[in-house]
Formats: sequence, C-alpha cells, structure tokens
Amino acid sequence: MPLALLACLLPLSLAAPAPILTPSAYRRDNSAQTAAVSDATIETDFVRPAQFSRIAYCSSQAVTSWQCGAPCAAVGPNVKVLQAGGDDGLIPMYFIAHDQDTDSILLAHQGTDAQNILSISNDVQFLQVGLNTTLFPQAGDGIKVHDGFQKTFERTADGVLAGVQSALNSTGVKKVAITGHSLGAAIATMDAVMLKMNLDPSISLSTVVFGLPRGGNQEWANLVDKTLGTDFTHITNQNDPVPTVPPQFLGYVHPQGEVHIAKANATGATETVACPGTENEVSSLYSMLLYSVSLPGDCQNCSEGNSLFHVSVANHIGMHELTT
Ligand SMILES: *[C@@H]1O[C@H](CO)[C@@H](O)[C@H](O)[C@H]1NC(C)=O
Ligand SMILES: *[C@@H]1O[C@H](CO)[C@@H](O)[C@H](O)[C@H]1NC(C)=O
Ligand SMILES: *[C@@H]1O[C@H](CO)[C@@H](O)[C@H](O)[C@H]1NC(C)=O
Ligand SMILES: *[C@@H]1O[C@H](CO)[C@@H](O)[C@H](O)[C@H]1NC(C)=O
Repeated sequence: MPLALLACLLPLSLAAPAPILTPSAYRRDNSAQTAAVSDATIETDFVRPAQFSRIAYCSSQAVTSWQCGAPCAAVGPNVKVLQAGGDDGLIPMYFIAHDQDTDSILLAHQGTDAQNILSISNDVQFLQVGLNTTLFPQAGDGIKVHDGFQKTFERTADGVLAGVQSALNSTGVKKVAITGHSLGAAIATMDAVMLKMNLDPSISLSTVVFGLPRGGNQEWANLVDKTLGTDFTHITNQNDPVPTVPPQFLGYVHPQGEVHIAKANATGATETVACPGTENEVSSLYSMLLYSVSLPGDCQNCSEGNSLFHVSVANHIGMHELTT
C-alpha cells in the first residue's frame, strides 16, 4: 500500500548510536497547533519524492540503466536518466532524470548513513561559514551555512546546475522536482536555492526532502523561506535525531515547511502533521534558556521536540527504507 512508502515498516536492527554530546531537546517557540496532513496529500505530494530519494542510494550504474530492482520498479519505467554523478565517496551520488509521468526534471541526492550524518553535523565542520556568493549570486548579507554541508554541496553544484539546465533545454520541460534524504536533504536544499536563483524564472521548482539536518543560521533559513516559499517541504519521521542537529544553541535554525510523521505502524498507516512556522522566534539565547525544558502548547509533535537521548536512528533510516 502506498502509504507504506513514507515510514519505516521494516524491523531495522541498527546498533544504537554512539553517545552524542550535543544537547538538542529544544522546542520551537511556536504555540500554533499542527494540522493533519491527509493521505491524499501524502500520496500526491510526498510518495514519489520519497521513492526517488530511495533510488538515489542505488549505484550509479543501476540508476542509469534503471535496473535498481524494487526502488526503480516502484516508480515505474517512464523515467529517463540524463545524468548521474558522484563517486560514492567524497562526492555524493546524485542523478538527474526526466520523469515522464509528471513531466518534470527530477534531481535526487544520495544521503549517508545515520551515524555518519550525526557525526558530520556535530564534528568540527559544524562551524558556520559565509555562503558561496558565486553559486548564490543574489544572497544577502549575514548568511552562514554549515561548512561541511556547503563543501559537499560545492563538489556537485556546477554539474547539477549545468545538468538541470541542459535537461530543461533538451526536454522543454518547465518543472524541476528536487529531493534527497539526510545529507542528501541538506545538499538538495542548497541545490534548490541555487537553482531558483540561476534558472529562468518561468521554471517552477518543487522541493521535498526527508530527514533534513539544520543547514545554517537564521538568515539562511530566511533565504530558504523567501526563495522557495511553500514549494519547500521537509519531512521528519518520528524520533529521527538528525533534524535536531546541529542544535539551535550553535545558531542553527530550520526553514519553514516541516511535515512530521508522528506515528507509523506495520500496516503503513501514518499520522502525519504539518508543523506551522519556523524556528524564527527562537533566538539562540532563548534556546539555551529552554534547554531540556518542555513548554506546554509548543509544537510537541514535531522534530524539535525530539531528544537525542531518546532517539531511534531507525527512524532516520526508515524514511527511505521504503516498501511497496
Ligand atoms: C499532536 O498530535 C496529537 C494526535 O496524535 C493531537 O491530538 C495533538 O493536538 C497534537 N499536538 C499539537 C500541539 O499539535
Ligand atoms: C564556490 O563554489 C565553487 C564551485 O562551484 C568553487 O569552485 C569555489 O571555490 C567556491 N568559492 C569559495 C569562496 O569557496
Ligand atoms: C540552455 O538554454 C539557455 C537559454 O536558451 C542557454 O542560455 C543555456 O546556455 C543552455 N544551457 C545548456 C546547459 O544547454
Ligand atoms: C495502524 O494505524 C492506523 C491509523 O492510526 C489504525 O487505524 C490501525 O488500526 C493501525 N493498525 C495496527 C495493526 O496497529
């Protein structure tokens, strides 16, 4: 059943994560109620990006020949892969395809395993650096992003931009759909902002990412909000710890557009809610004061309510460990 696609249905037996010394049990300063997301919305808007995010974990060769087994079969045969890049090492894999069923150009980024993303998010590269103004020509002042994520993004950015432009030119398609999971979600979000700034304004962009870590400071979150608006969704799954890193007290803020899977069970049924607002009202000082304190009325169903001390890494993996 299709809803099974959005949540972890497999009994994953991952080792418990190494202890992480980052407190992250902050809650957003947001008293707005969550709103239920319907099964219909999940099916029309989120399932296909989830399927493509999963395919991005397959080998380049399997993706290019569209022979990746169940993940490719779930999407169906009407996908023409136009470019695949990355080396499965320092340069993460991605692919660009013409999705003929939706008549869009699809860009999907591979992620990394949960242990790795937690360590990347928290290691020395958590330092924030200025945004690359060559790749983001219209970015304003004061924008800072995660050094490690930006370095990884830079390794494929030129190829992604040229590849998407050439795919749009050769197909005449006017829509780009962008997705990724985990580290792939962080890169896909940077790609989306870069593409919006560099592509013809007539091209529409839709970005749906899964298990997104925080990518930068308040100014970066504002830029994502302003540039992508409601065409950006980041889906968080139950107690996945990754959306809670790097923590807010280091000056990291999520953009808006969170949709949270609050519950999922073995039948694939989910309880999924849209979390309004952003972390905008929460200054880093305020975050520190709120550390580990749970406030009544905040967005308890959303990822900011997760604590790294009670996490299930399986919830992170589960987002793309999709079944049909
Ligand atoms: C959280 O989700 C439950 C349903 O699972 C709902 O009853 C409750 O109102 C939600 N809480 C908030 C703060 O939105
Ligand atoms: C910006 O990204 C490009 C890759 O497109 C890279 O060549 C360049 O060195 C980066 N600029 C800075 C200042 O890091
Ligand atoms: C795509 O078309 C635009 C406008 O016609 C052109 O400026 C650009 O160089 C082309 N890019 C590629 C990669 O073919
Ligand atoms: C799964 O969740 C759905 C929706 O919350 C519920 O109706 C159903 O009874 C649950 N099934 C099992 C086996 O728990």
